[in-house]
Amino acid sequence: MIEKIEALLTKIEQLEASDPETLETARVKYLGKKGAIAALMDDFRNVPAEKKREVGMRVNELKTKATEKIQSLKEQFEAHGERDSGIDLSRTAYPVTLGTRHPISIVKEEIIDIFKRLGFSIAEGPEVEDDWHVFSSLNFADDHPARDMQDTFFVQNDPQIVLRTHTSSVQTRVMEETSPPIRIICPGRVFRNEAISYRAHCFFHQVEALYIDRDVSFADLKQALLFFAKEMFGDDTKIRLRPSYFPFTEPSAEMDISCNICGGKGCPFCKHTGWVEILGCGMVDPNVLENCGIDSKEFTGYALGMGIERVTNLKYQVKDLRMFSENDVRFLEQFQSAH
Ligand code: DAH
Repeated sequence: MIEKIEALLTKIEQLEASDPETLETARVKYLGKKGAIAALMDDFRNVPAEKKREVGMRVNELKTKATEKIQSLKEQFEAHGERDSGIDLSRTAYPVTLGTRHPISIVKEEIIDIFKRLGFSIAEGPEVEDDWHVFSSLNFADDHPARDMQDTFFVQNDPQIVLRTHTSSVQTRVMEETSPPIRIICPGRVFRNEAISYRAHCFFHQVEALYIDRDVSFADLKQALLFFAKEMFGDDTKIRLRPSYFPFTEPSAEMDISCNICGGKGCPFCKHTGWVEILGCGMVDPNVLENCGIDSKEFTGYALGMGIERVTNLKYQVKDLRMFSENDVRFLEQFQSAH
């Protein structure tokens, strides 16, 4: 049996075919239902049990080789055919247009990429959240006016279940489950009950970053912010921090970058100030750490949050927020990405 296989193998290796008909005859001869290999398979029954393994392997090998050889000869003819007529009949009739990444995805990936280089890893949380993770754990008191800062959608009129209004909710989820050091970035969709216009939408996207460890200081935050701004908007970008208020950070700040449209000289986009606001940030309030079971005497941290649409607008000067969710291909196909 082994000799038979060897002999067939040699024949197949030497196989030549000058035209498709000869090739088809050869295919039937070796690989057809009543061909030489099928006959070998029939004989296989008579092979003694202890040889079955080896012989089986050789027959399979022969079959693979034969199939490959016939296929490669066939491709030669096909290639010839193509050259002769100059037309590839196997191509589709219409040009295939490739899709493009959504601008929000492009910018989101870019933000993630920059923070990854600082050692941050991605964390995600649910869009339908409970009051604790969106508000209470983040130091919003029950009757605190700060809750009005974000117009909340409640699910089934239950004040305890909400569509998250910011990705800061993921901070709490991670801090509850992990002990420091924590260095995470949380991209995601958020929802607010806003009238839809060119500058507001009822859903949009944010990226949150959180860094908790021993001895994390405001200087660390500033350094990360400067690095981010330069990587995202170019090396000449300057940053400016203005004191601000968020219930979950103390002190809190808002960061402006030098207007990347006029280079800081002043233009209608930056309302002639030379600066545009881009994110909120601060040192995590000790109450928030304690709410999540982290000892605020041992650990400190910074947090920051930014809108992806806002960053995208700055990069691409999209004037109407609604364009991001209308799925108009004339808009979408203008964005190309390396990712
Ligand atoms: N969650 C805030 C918002 O949606 C943004 C924010 C501000 C996030 C300051 C932070 C922060 O982590 O420290 O407006």
